[in-house]
Amino acid sequence: MTTCSAPGKVYLFGEHAVVYGEPAIPCAIERRARVTAEPRNDGRVRVEANDLSLDGFTVSWGDSVEDRPDIDVPTQLVEAGMGYVDEAVGQARDAADAPDAGFDITIESDIPLGAGLGSSAAVVVAGIDAGTRSLGVELPPGEVADRAYRAEYAVQDGQASRADTFCSAMGGAVRVEGEDRRTIDAPELPFVVGYDGGAGDTGELVSGVRALREEYGFAADTVTAIGDVVRRGTEVLRGADPSGEPAPDLLAELGRLMDFDHGLLSALGVSSRSLDAMVWAAREADAYGAKLTGAGGGGCIVALDDTGGTETALDYTPGCEATFRAELAADGVRVEE
Ligand code: PMV
Repeated sequence: MTTCSAPGKVYLFGEHAVVYGEPAIPCAIERRARVTAEPRNDGRVRVEANDLSLDGFTVSWGDSVEDRPDIDVPTQLVEAGMGYVDEAVGQARDAADAPDAGFDITIESDIPLGAGLGSSAAVVVAGIDAGTRSLGVELPPGEVADRAYRAEYAVQDGQASRADTFCSAMGGAVRVEGEDRRTIDAPELPFVVGYDGGAGDTGELVSGVRALREEYGFAADTVTAIGDVVRRGTEVLRGADPSGEPAPDLLAELGRLMDFDHGLLSALGVSSRSLDAMVWAAREADAYGAKLTGAGGGGCIVALDDTGGTETALDYTPGCEATFRAELAADGVRVEE
């Protein structure tokens, strides 16, 4: 029996534009998905997933899926979630050269589903690592990331960048630009997450941006402008001392860029009333900056705030269901004892 965990993430900058080869900087956060894999010798796959709770607010992993001869699903599981598990199992079988391997799989996650915090990437990354290790094969994190990307790509009909899976596998802050993927130095940033209890449909939102971009030149320019924000943010982070407390002027500059990024994402139609309400509550509480994170449409915002102001303000913001502080997760995928 092997248990591996992998972190969720927030986007400091660059979601959506990363789909078009612009850079993005996602940061892994200490909210993890844990996947346990136990090989079975009858070739079957049995999956158990917990309810995913967040500060008392429960997000169900879903309804039970139809019975399938090869898969026995005893508890709640969304069909989408099932697709991710299926693909992760396929990747683990392939990597371990064990096409007929069966597994008992248990998933526990404290990352809300579909809310822009990379829940599916974390489950797929941890699942591939646990599956292969349970068969005696250890993959380097870069290969886990690569296989997790292929799994997401398959489930999301090709609408996936490498950002989420790479960040979850490697941990820390990462920069992804086309084929160039690397971890970067970043100080401990005071992230506060606000969650509206909802979720966005990543595929639909990505398609919406594609349609706008094809119809209007200025939408294409908006995507490029997000890339410019990320390039500027990269320079700002490069000037920071990664081991020290981030200086207020560094946070102020990053915050300004986050605000700018959120405005551009809003122009592309991927924000929502509740995300905007939380972003404005954070700004009015004197956060350095705030933006939606991930695909948008609903789900989470991320603010930079080293006081308790944003958390208090979000607690009183209609539409905000949960708030928490998110520390940078230094570890990516790892084995749990
Ligand atoms: O909402 P999430 O965590 O699935 O992030 C989606 C990020 C996008 O840039 C919109 C799509 C992608 O695959 O990069």
